[in-house]
Amino acid sequence: MDLHEDCAPLAFLLGTWRGRGHGEYPTIDSFEYLEEVTFGHVGKPFLAYAQKTRHAETGQPLHAESGYVRAIGDERIEFVLSQPSGIVELHSGRVVGTRLDLTLHAVHTTPAAKSVTDVARSIEVTDNTLSYTVAMAAVGEPLTHHLRATLERELDTQ
Ligand code: HEM
Repeated sequence: MDLHEDCAPLAFLLGTWRGRGHGEYPTIDSFEYLEEVTFGHVGKPFLAYAQKTRHAETGQPLHAESGYVRAIGDERIEFVLSQPSGIVELHSGRVVGTRLDLTLHAVHTTPAAKSVTDVARSIEVTDNTLSYTVAMAAVGEPLTHHLRATLERELDTQ
């Protein structure tokens, strides 16, 4: 199936990515995690995103999330994300080369979820390496680094 023309600037994300990350936050113990990410398409003007992680030492499932990168023309994008922890994020921004330049539009939490009031994400691909960072303002802390990971593209799924 052909990639939708509005998704052409996002083609560098397509495929399955696997790697390792480091998590930290002032209120929790630091941890290492393994991660698998996929970006797929169905010929419409968005990419489907799915992510799952597990603890690097114990193999125990950790965070997961899924969503869509919406291509809205002229290299502008919107990123819609949901998490089983009761958090949803909406970002808008643009594709700059092989980097997503994102600005948080809104973050909302379900009544029983932990409080999150700001999220800043960076996502960049260099050759076949995807690296990202996540910072958040949560549980009363100001915007503070939470995650950093580096993933390699699985070459046979492109
Ligand atoms: C690779 C993705 C992620 C991993 C592996 C991860 C992992 C963890 C772990 C292990 C903890 C500590 C134990 C726990 O409370 O469950 C934690 C806490 C937390 N994470 Fe993440 N997380 C990820 C992404 C996110 C994202 C995207 C958000 C919000 C936008 C988020 C929000 C939180 C919050 C609010 C806490 C609770 C902090 C506290 O209770 O003091 N996490 N995370």
